[in-house]
Order: sequence, then C-alpha cells, then structure tokens
Amino acid sequence: MKIITSPKEMKEFSAKSRAEGKKIALVPTMGALHDGHLSLVDKARSLADVVVVSIFVNPTQFGPNEDYDKYPRQLDADAQKCTEHSADVIFAPSPQDIYAPDASTFVNEVQISQNLCGKSRPKHFRGVTTVVTILFNIVKPDFGVFGEKDAQQVSIIERMVRDLFMDVKIVRSPIVREANGLALSSRNKYMTQLEHDGATRIRRSLLEGKALVDGGCTNIDRIKALVINSVTDAKTRVIYVDVVDAKTSLPVSELDVGNCRICIAVWYGQTRLIDNIII
Ligand code: PAF
Repeated sequence: MKIITSPKEMKEFSAKSRAEGKKIALVPTMGALHDGHLSLVDKARSLADVVVVSIFVNPTQFGPNEDYDKYPRQLDADAQKCTEHSADVIFAPSPQDIYAPDASTFVNEVQISQNLCGKSRPKHFRGVTTVVTILFNIVKPDFGVFGEKDAQQVSIIERMVRDLFMDVKIVRSPIVREANGLALSSRNKYMTQLEHDGATRIRRSLLEGKALVDGGCTNIDRIKALVINSVTDAKTRVIYVDVVDAKTSLPVSELDVGNCRICIAVWYGQTRLIDNIII
C-alpha cells in the first residue's frame, strides 16, 4: 500500500489507474480509523479495482470552539489497518497542501444543511462539501463511499453531486456498532468507560422510538418526546431529536413509515455524539 501526501502525485496516480482502465473508489475519512471506516474500505474494495482512503482532518469543517486540535491523529495505526483491509493508497495531505493561504472558494449546499447538525454547527457542512469536492477533483473516483451514521452528510453530498453534475457515484454503507449498540465514532475515544457505557442509551432511545412506530404510532411529536425522555440522564444534553426523510434528510411533517429516520445528536459529558435509525 502506498501513502501519498502530495495532491499532484495523487492526481498522477489516479490518471495512470484510469488510463489502465481501472475503476477507483474513494473512502474519505479524517483518520483514527475504526471498524466503521474499515467496513467502508471493504465496501470500496468490492466495487473498484483501486481503493483510495483519504485521511485528512479538515480544518474548514470545525467551528472555532470545536475539537480540531484534539481530534485523534494516528497515521501509522491507520496505515496498518488499511493494509489489512487491502486498500491500495492512503492519501494524507497536509492542510497547506489542500488550502492555499488565500483560498476563497467554497461549495455550499443551502437546503439540507440548514437542519439537524447544521443548526448547531453553522459552517460545518460548507467545510465538508468543499473538502469532498476538492478530494473528488484530486482523486477523480468512480465511487465515493460514505457511512450512514452521518446520514445528513451523505444526503448533502448526494445533493451536491446531483446539482453539480459530478461524475461520481455515491455509495452508502450501514452504521457499524459496538456489541453494546453504541455507533462507532472516532470521538468515542474522548469518553471515559463510564460515559461510554452510559452513551449506549442513545441507541436504546432510538430503538424505543422505532418500537413506538412499529406499534402503530405515527405522531412525530410523540415519537420525539419518547426518544428525548429515554435518552436523557444526568450526563446528556440533547442537541436535537428529529424525524426526517430517510433519503434526503429533510424534515417531514407526516410520518411515511419505512421511509423516515429518527436522527439524534447529544452531548454526552464532553463528547458530541450522533446516531440515527430508519423507522
Ligand atoms: O465524515 C467525515 O469523516 C468527514 O466529514 C469527511 C467526509 C471525511 C470530510 O472531511
């Protein structure tokens, strides 16, 4: 497996692969790879001849008081995992390689990104769509593989790809969980064991919401209230609980059973966690 840091070298590698008739799949990540990311690498492997994993902690998607500085960085361990999962290339540029000092161009999706995480992280999705566009422009993948834990992010990227006629197929991959139900996230590392155990209530609250729907309830306010009540303990601060369209992540006023998703974001202690479930 190769580690490439220079965008120019990455472009050349991709151009050569394409000239050889190979299909390329890109798995964009910020590193600190866990089994959720590795399931995306496996999915990419099943789709394409060349699998590129980008590892880039993207400064433009972090707010001023967010965890950019403390976000875990562990390239050697990540490279080991990518090798074990048969990736071909890690693309790990530095922020200076990606953003010119006077960079002034952003890609901004302005509908889906207003809701859910967009309300509390105002420029977050602008940073995501901008860096994903940059990565697509450098790697020129046939497939971009994204995890459904970040369901809103995937919806926004799908919208961007559609709106801007980008030549890449977005592939969604299911959430990977610990045995206790907690969705895998690089931010789980921030929690103590006690918080980690307590945070399993996030998944349980979503399952309770789904059980209510499975029992015939279609009242969105009731579903949200149950989830909020169930997730709340002394360490939880709910950021949002919402019911959205499962594909677009846009808010719904009526429940279309099977095609909606409960999305949740909470602070659990000092850690911001998100999760979702199809209902
Ligand atoms: O999901 C992530 O890890 C990031 O938002 C992404 C897609 C790699 C863009 O920086």
